[in-house]
Amino acid sequence: MTAATATTAETFRPALHYAAQNTWLNDPNGLIFHGGVYHLYYQNNPLGNVWGNMSWGHATSTDLLTWTEHPVAIACDENEDIFSGSIIYDRENTSGFGNDSVAPLVAIYTSAFKPGSAHEGTQAQSLAYSLDGGYTWTKHIGNPVLTRGSAEFRDPKVIRYDGAAGSYWVMVAVEAKDFQAVLYKSENLKDWELLSTFGPANATGGVWECPDLFQLPVDGDPENLKWVLTVNLNPGGPNNGSAGQYFIGDFDGTTFTSTSTVTEGLQDPARLGDYQWLDWGRDYYAAVSFSDAPDNHRLMIAWMNNWEYANQIPTTPWRSPMSLAREITLKSSNGKLRLVQQPAGDWTAMAGPESFRLTDTILHEGVQVLPGGAGTVQRIDITVTPGSAEEFGLILRGHGAKGTRVGIRPVEGALFVDRRESGQTDFHESFPSIDTAPIRPTDGAYDLTIYVDRCSVEVFAQGGQVTMTELIFPAETSTDLSVYAVGGTATVNSLQVTQFA
Ligand code: FRU
Repeated sequence: MTAATATTAETFRPALHYAAQNTWLNDPNGLIFHGGVYHLYYQNNPLGNVWGNMSWGHATSTDLLTWTEHPVAIACDENEDIFSGSIIYDRENTSGFGNDSVAPLVAIYTSAFKPGSAHEGTQAQSLAYSLDGGYTWTKHIGNPVLTRGSAEFRDPKVIRYDGAAGSYWVMVAVEAKDFQAVLYKSENLKDWELLSTFGPANATGGVWECPDLFQLPVDGDPENLKWVLTVNLNPGGPNNGSAGQYFIGDFDGTTFTSTSTVTEGLQDPARLGDYQWLDWGRDYYAAVSFSDAPDNHRLMIAWMNNWEYANQIPTTPWRSPMSLAREITLKSSNGKLRLVQQPAGDWTAMAGPESFRLTDTILHEGVQVLPGGAGTVQRIDITVTPGSAEEFGLILRGHGAKGTRVGIRPVEGALFVDRRESGQTDFHESFPSIDTAPIRPTDGAYDLTIYVDRCSVEVFAQGGQVTMTELIFPAETSTDLSVYAVGGTATVNSLQVTQFA
């Protein structure tokens, strides 16, 4: 490796996010908390840093902030690629894969059958099991266990349903090109019976992939539970390319119903702003949640990339980071239910001493570099009250006025990330972009918490009601932090920068 490529690799390698040591990854798979350890499996090319040879890579963490890579968990072979799926802890050994002393972990994954294999041309659901806590896996001899003869049937997420209708395993997967979530039930993970389908609904501009189904209390009230169905879609997100939408509703053990669905005018891009999105940024895809997270918390991780340019992002020898793990809750606000997201994990352990603070400062037209706020890996907490400015915000990972802009245009009710001058952008024509999300002030003010890493920006706005996740590739020397206003004034009530590296 030349000195130049070595520098590039370390320039973008994230400090706060997982990336494989020197290979490609995409979707998180099989997320489970088991034996005191968070397991993150993922779509991995063990032989390269572009998509291919799909297998399940593996990493573990005890704090959701630092990760250890392990050998490939489930490898592709001459018959199948191992596409996305989930893992459950089969406590009662319903599958029979366990023995007298050990209950198995069971992975339910999509076999993407290769030309020449017995199931050529189809995608079907298969099982593998682990008796050593998730480190080594054996494929089930009776695979596949569920086939529909379809070429687009994938991404099974299995949960335990315990409710009025009984107690059994439920699988939600997709018929990707039909924009349908398909639900199945099983007693033993091997025999599956169709329950129902959901969709097409809301955003259908691409294929539906990687669904999830879980229950959450509304405003923390255990007596008021709602079901959430998440569906990733690619392309067709609110700012182009890959994104994840969600539906809030009810699941009676057979059918998922939602009041927030729109089934007419599906393809109308003008409607995308009306739907509910897990994240409005360009780089938050294939989000799924952990099984068995402690204390019933709902924790999610997404792949931090976008299929539009995923194979071209300028990192080497690895390619693609995961998002931060996020805790998801369900809140009612202005009569509407919505998911609220916060980074999971104990960040106090990661933080250096608080490095910079600004209070009650009026921004005037122009850019003001904040020398004390400079850095590469940091959290920025800012509360701003609008004044006469048509636009105001921050410039991160900057070099003077050039950098990634995270701003607000109050009259338009828009939060945006502008990465046109964020650093390297020319590896794909659709990368340099201004991406927007709807935002409304709370008590007259906007508040943003922004996690900046060596190749990413994750914005949690209004307490996590709106999030935007975007990749950026700034020069190592672009460390300036600035505030700016356009066309008038705004007041920074408070700004705090915490350095992490
Ligand atoms: C989503 C996806 C899944 C599939 C996997 C293949 O990014 O296309 O639908 O299982 O990636 O790597």
